[in-house]
Amino acid sequence: MKAFIVDKYKKGRALRLGEMPDPLLTDTDVLVQIHAAGLNPLDAKIRDGVFKPLLPYRPPFILGHDMAGVVTRVGPKVRGFKVGDTVFARPRDGRVGTLAEAIAIHEADLALKPKNLSMAEAAAIPLVGLTAWQALVEQAKLQKGQKILIHAGSGGVGTFAIQLAKHLGATVATTTSTTNVDLVKSLGADVVIDYKKQDFSKVLSGYDVVLNSLEGDTPEKSLDVLKQGGKLISISGPPDPEFARQQGLNGVLRLLMRLLSFNIRRKARGRGIHYSFLFMRADGGQVAQITSLIEAGIIRPVMDQVFPFEATNEALAYVETGRSKGKVVVALC
Ligand SMILES: NC(=O)c1ccc[n+]([C@@H]2O[C@H](COP(=O)([O-])OP(=O)(O)OC[C@H]3O[C@@H](n4cnc5c(N)ncnc54)[C@H](OP(=O)(O)O)[C@@H]3O)[C@@H](O)[C@H]2O)c1
Repeated sequence: MKAFIVDKYKKGRALRLGEMPDPLLTDTDVLVQIHAAGLNPLDAKIRDGVFKPLLPYRPPFILGHDMAGVVTRVGPKVRGFKVGDTVFARPRDGRVGTLAEAIAIHEADLALKPKNLSMAEAAAIPLVGLTAWQALVEQAKLQKGQKILIHAGSGGVGTFAIQLAKHLGATVATTTSTTNVDLVKSLGADVVIDYKKQDFSKVLSGYDVVLNSLEGDTPEKSLDVLKQGGKLISISGPPDPEFARQQGLNGVLRLLMRLLSFNIRRKARGRGIHYSFLFMRADGGQVAQITSLIEAGIIRPVMDQVFPFEATNEALAYVETGRSKGKVVVALC
């Protein structure tokens, strides 16, 4: 089958469009013909080798974390899906590779595609939807009436998280640049901080939760926004010891993560704030709950561009500019 392949870890190196063996199916796997694959900054980071210590994929391997398509075969123990179903997923770590004509996915990672979305729209959802769900519902336990700051509201994660937070009944502030102010307002943001003109840490205070997806001094400045007892949940680092424990990392990596997050954890603790790092995980049950919200019209995908499959390298380069509004997807058929 055709696939976009990482032959060698290297920053910015183009993926190779080539032939790979058809996927092998285990008893609990579903074989999916991929119609569209969503791209994420994680794809570029994996290609660059940034995640090698955590996710040691051995080249040559197929890149890609999001997909929508049609079930063409099911393993003998699969109970939830049948041939012909339209599905979408973020396959579990270690078994990614959606930039291809087909993929075998554990049925626990899969959900039925929302009926009101195209394949391209559905492929835009799983990774960012699961990230927002696990941050807001699982970790923050966001309640009606609470206040949340969602950084980078116009990005893939931000556009989904704003809508989910509004659905949960929170007051939502977000950061974005001037050109995206109308977009984030249309998604329900109550307070919009144009980071070109304002410093969010000087404007906002008394927040219950911050969802951070930015680097540099943003995690630390976000502490100024939170009230005592508040939660700073970061998806772009620094990773904390609890994350290292959950991932079953070795002693050296555990120590490294303890050191990397030492400062922010100490500063947060000093103010009575809980800091945690989140690395999202595959979960078909949660994707199915997201399907319900989409079919009910509560959450909609925000699409920036759909590229043809052959233009995957151009699509990934566009994602890497960090300027996309919502999601970037490649379409196979
Ligand atoms: N740990 C995890 O499980 C996990 C999961 C998903 C994503 N992530 C990480 O989270 C980050 C965001 O992911 P994403 O998919 O949302 O990325 P994305 O879609 O590429 O984000 C692009 C958006 O970020 C906005 N942006 C850039 N700099 C900004 C700033 N200083 N302030 C406010 N907005 C800014 C841009 O808006 P403007 O053009 O207006 O600046 C653009 O709309 C990435 O680093 C990704 O790797 C981690």
